[in-house]
Amino acid sequence: MNLLDLERIDPAALAKSFPPDFRWGVATSAAQIEGAAFEDGKGASIWDHFCRQPGRIKDGSNIDVACDHYHRFREDVALMKGLGLDCYRFSFAWPRVQPLGQGAWNEAGFAFYDRLIDSLLEAGIQPHATLYHWDLPQALDEQLGGWLSRDVVARFADYAAEVARRFGSRLASIATHNEPWCTATLGYETAQFAPGHTSRAESLQVAHHLMLSHGDAVAAMRAVTKAPLGIVLNHTPSFPATPNEADRRAARIDDGLNVRWYMDPIFRGAYPADALEHVGADAPRIAAGDLERIRQPLDFLGINFYTRSLFGADGKTVKGPGKRGFTDMGWEIVPEVFAQHLVRLAREYNPPPMFITENGMANADSVVAGPQPHVPDVERIAYLSAHLQALSTAMSLGADVRGYFYWSLLDNFEWNSGYDKRFGLVHVDYRTLERLPKDSARWYRDFIAEHRARR
Ligand code: FCB
Repeated sequence: MNLLDLERIDPAALAKSFPPDFRWGVATSAAQIEGAAFEDGKGASIWDHFCRQPGRIKDGSNIDVACDHYHRFREDVALMKGLGLDCYRFSFAWPRVQPLGQGAWNEAGFAFYDRLIDSLLEAGIQPHATLYHWDLPQALDEQLGGWLSRDVVARFADYAAEVARRFGSRLASIATHNEPWCTATLGYETAQFAPGHTSRAESLQVAHHLMLSHGDAVAAMRAVTKAPLGIVLNHTPSFPATPNEADRRAARIDDGLNVRWYMDPIFRGAYPADALEHVGADAPRIAAGDLERIRQPLDFLGINFYTRSLFGADGKTVKGPGKRGFTDMGWEIVPEVFAQHLVRLAREYNPPPMFITENGMANADSVVAGPQPHVPDVERIAYLSAHLQALSTAMSLGADVRGYFYWSLLDNFEWNSGYDKRFGLVHVDYRTLERLPKDSARWYRDFIAEHRARR
């Protein structure tokens, strides 16, 4: 039997293959949708700053307004209710609630999240929060050197404890970091993301501080909340471009730097020896006791999956064959790898229950005008259904996954790509900020309704 028959997906049968208590959601992040960048006392973030540096963002845009979710969140919650979602993953903007990243709290900022959480609960949607989705208070970068400074670890733990103390009883989960690999590598090594540095040694030191801040934040939050606590990691599984030993080694090293560099300290209490040897003098400074602090028991593991990487012998990535095509980001569509990777995680790490905290595609969507304007995003429906089929298969092979969050609810600010890449189930017209559910939103709504019919 072909467990992953992606050619003939029957949405009704697929929906019924998920356990009755499986949860369906969408994900967003503060910097990408909120706007109101300098309103009600919010401090600047490193992304507010980065967007203002010429050449950093492809379309020269910024996040001053973004999707204006800060003012339109009620409409957005109503959209989610219309889709029948069980849950919603969003992030707190640290500089909105603590403008300088230390010292005074901003009550007006907390009040926004209070209103958001209340309206989600009223709509019957469980709020899942992330504390750090890349928008570090700019003041911490200027005054302390951002994540390069070990002092930021304690600042983050304080912030985490304050959010947990105020909101923990109303949150379905709290994740410390979103994708620490991206914060460290894209922010400090490749300069694609804020703050735009170009040093591998810095990036690995930052990664260590992120890990330490994760562990310390979990410990600090445990003292004040019973909310389930975890972390969100992005996994882009690495494969050799050919069966040659050199390509295999390059893929293995990348797996060490991308997957195991984060999984191993969290779940095994050590950095992977092969990757550590490979980075040589760029290895981070690790103080006595750090690895024990990082390895905190977790209630869940969030996995973000989009694509894979293929490696040639020189350690550079090679474009895959794209049997199922590529997304508008140029990312190869590989649902089989999604299934395989989840099974690998279950077997190699025996992690706590997993959530797919992000999965989705950018597509060159456009609105078809007429009496009933619509967005016929058949590519996204194909991507979504193939990945859900893969997820169902992985679960039947032993991966303990409890929920799925599509990335993203809305088209939004896709970091250094600006507003050009559309990931949403809901189209956003950036001139009017009008929201229009795409065909994929209806597909997801009907899929969730099918699943619910069996509960
Ligand atoms: C992930 C990010 C998310 C979004 C998607 C496309 O790496 O967590 O904010 O940009 O990619």
